[in-house]
Amino acid sequence: MILVTGGAGFIGSNFVLGWLATQTESVLNLDKLTYAGNLNNLASIQGDQRHIFVHADINDSAKLDQLFAEHQPRAVVHFAAESHVDRSIHGPSAFIETNVNGTFKLLEATRAYWQNLDEARKASFRFLHVSTDEVYGSLEKDDPPFSETTPYAPNSPYSASKAASDHLVRAYHHTYGLPTLTTNCSNNYGPYHFPEKLIPLVITNARAGKDLPIYGDGSQVRDWLYVADHCAAIRQVLEAGRPGETYNIGGWNEKTNLNVVHTICDLLDELQAKSSGSYRDQIKHVKDRPGHDKRYAIDARKIERELGWKPVETFETGLRKTVQWYLENDAWTSQVLSGEYKNWVALQYQQA
Ligand code: NAD
Ligand code: DAU
Repeated sequence: MILVTGGAGFIGSNFVLGWLATQTESVLNLDKLTYAGNLNNLASIQGDQRHIFVHADINDSAKLDQLFAEHQPRAVVHFAAESHVDRSIHGPSAFIETNVNGTFKLLEATRAYWQNLDEARKASFRFLHVSTDEVYGSLEKDDPPFSETTPYAPNSPYSASKAASDHLVRAYHHTYGLPTLTTNCSNNYGPYHFPEKLIPLVITNARAGKDLPIYGDGSQVRDWLYVADHCAAIRQVLEAGRPGETYNIGGWNEKTNLNVVHTICDLLDELQAKSSGSYRDQIKHVKDRPGHDKRYAIDARKIERELGWKPVETFETGLRKTVQWYLENDAWTSQVLSGEYKNWVALQYQQA
């Protein structure tokens, strides 16, 4: 069994679904169900005995100790976090509480469990920490992409909290020998993406006839990766990554925000045309994000070279799939927008 934290969020739920579709091993899914946790994401595995859902906080040390003792996982895959940069600007406290303190509590509980395992299980155990390219700061136009040796320079409370958690994970390997793995990934997109983030927000607003807000001039660059490719990379790192190492994950898909929004509008024009005009007419330039990082780009050669991972989707194929998913899953979006998704009770899953 593996323990997954944050498995009801965007990437975590895609990971749990992908795991159960490709592996036989069970998943213990621990999630606090903040605004970003949505059990509807896991509806398709309801009744699958290999999925056990636990409604809990990674800051709850007693619960973590109980779960480790009871389920004896052979690995932890740690997604749970506050993930939205804009929220971190308006209220950083939850980011420190979960991303820094929560990761520390999880590391402590893992260490206590791990150090009492027999030698064989101790050696094969893995703690995989899912992190972000934002810890490296911002690139200028002609800078080379972030590699695993790029110095950390986080600029937002979100990225600073993730950088702190990365350093804690590094220290637990260096000091205690905990077999950790850290992945630093670029911007994900795909199904079950909460519509506060650029791509799902634009798809949702466009269809609702609302403004499509572009911060500043829209020239900022992000490096986009389809979420299923990220999940496959994490499985590969868990399987074959070297303890103590970090792996950058990215799709070599640098796009300006304006370009991303234009492409979404063009796809919607093709797949669900308006009675008149283009979705591009709804674009509105708004006040820029404070401290807005200019450009992120990932050099993914290490994971390609050492672990043989490569993304399957290009930005064009992945974005088309994503827009199609939102067109076919109105119920998911409307439950998120109305807040109804919060009425789902965890009791519908086998619970620990
Ligand atoms: P998300 O916000 O969609 O999901 C986070 C999940 O964690 C939610 O289900 C939430 O309920 C849960 N959670 C939050 N606080 C918790 C706590 N204290 N205890 C237990 N569960 C808690 O985030 P996401 O976009 O799926 O990101 C997942 C991870 O991947 C994060 O660590 C993030 O930093 C990292 N990451 C995200 C991206 C991206 O583009 N979204 C890219 C690279 C890395
Ligand atoms: O790079 C990885 C990171 O990508 C992850 O670590 C974060 O968890 C994830 O949220 C994401 O961060 P970003 O800030 O890059 O994503 P977001 O979707 O919020 O914004 C993408 C770009 O679009 C960014 O330059 C800000 C801009 N933007 C965003 C929103 C929500 C807009 O122009 N308008 C908007 O309304």
